[in-house]
Amino acid sequence: MKILITGGAGFIGSHLASELFERGHEITIIDNFSTGRKDNLRHLVPNSGIRVEEGSILDAEVIEPLVADCDEVYHLAAAVGVRLILENPVETIMTNVRGAEVTLGLCRKHSKKIFIASTSEVYGKNNNGSLGEDDDRILGTTKKQRWAYANTKTLDEFLALAYHQAYGLPVVIARLFNTVGPRQTGRYGMVIPNFVRAALDGKPICVFGSGKQSRCFAHVNDVVKGIIGLMAHPDAVGDVFNVGNNEEITIEELALRVKKLSGSSSEIQYIPYEEAYGDGYEDMKRRVPSLKKIKGLIGYETRERLDDILRSVIAYFRENASDS
Ligand SMILES: NC(=O)c1ccc[n+]([C@@H]2O[C@H](COP(=O)([O-])OP(=O)(O)OC[C@H]3O[C@@H](n4cnc5c(N)ncnc54)[C@H](O)[C@@H]3O)[C@@H](O)[C@H]2O)c1
Repeated sequence: MKILITGGAGFIGSHLASELFERGHEITIIDNFSTGRKDNLRHLVPNSGIRVEEGSILDAEVIEPLVADCDEVYHLAAAVGVRLILENPVETIMTNVRGAEVTLGLCRKHSKKIFIASTSEVYGKNNNGSLGEDDDRILGTTKKQRWAYANTKTLDEFLALAYHQAYGLPVVIARLFNTVGPRQTGRYGMVIPNFVRAALDGKPICVFGSGKQSRCFAHVNDVVKGIIGLMAHPDAVGDVFNVGNNEEITIEELALRVKKLSGSSSEIQYIPYEEAYGDGYEDMKRRVPSLKKIKGLIGYETRERLDDILRSVIAYFRENASDS
């Protein structure tokens, strides 16, 4: 099959491209290299079955021939990460909303099945122990830019489901929970790369807030298999699925675990949210996915435990000392 991946030079997109290529598909990637990197595709590019186009998904003229020429689209291009969103609020909103609008419109025009990468952020401040796909979303005020990302992705979900209902467009939506692994950079506020980098450099590991907030981290290999499994299953069409891992850990414990596994002597420092992100920053106490729905449909399993994930990220940063 010919597959187009938007944002394919990014962290998850590059792993998705590798997995789909290994399964025998022809891959085209469109990426504007804003947060994605050519280096992420270094291992793939010499292959004849991989084509990389530099361009923006906001530019319909660039993306249209690529959509027309493929069998399926995986839409991952987006402005991602808390820091990026706070720093570039206008660009974030335009990239995430307009990007999905352009891509969905072209998929309808050329009758292509499309995967939409949404996020656990759409649950907002809902602290339920095990978030199910039909649970309520609890989002903060529009005065807090932090919530813009969740709302743009929510709108992408609404739009994709509307295309499905109104025009029968085959869409599959996944809400990805924290996804981690080699090639994720810490430049845009991602916690594990930041902790690992600091630990390896002997710098303080900075925990924001009390550190008592908990999260779940899934290895990108598990997430990518989940995404591909959903796209291959006819009953996933027109529906929304959580994808992630439900092994929960507090951020404080995560910092200690990174310190121990990397053999670091770094101290652990606690930084108030206001200092890290500005006044009035809001965060969730917990965010744990229910994986019942995806397990029931495709037998999704997480193979990688947190310690193994951390070891793989530590090994990656040791080998790629210049990455940050
Ligand atoms: N990493 C996570 O934990 C996580 C969690 C939930 C959802 N997601 C979603 O998964 C997707 C991939 O995220 P990621 O972690 O790989 O982030 P990433 O920043 O590494 O990937 C995003 C890619 O999109 C590209 N891009 C941005 N704007 C573009 C544009 N206008 N035109 C073309 N390309 C553009 C970037 O250059 C980058 O390669 C995103 O849609 C994100 O919202 C990620």
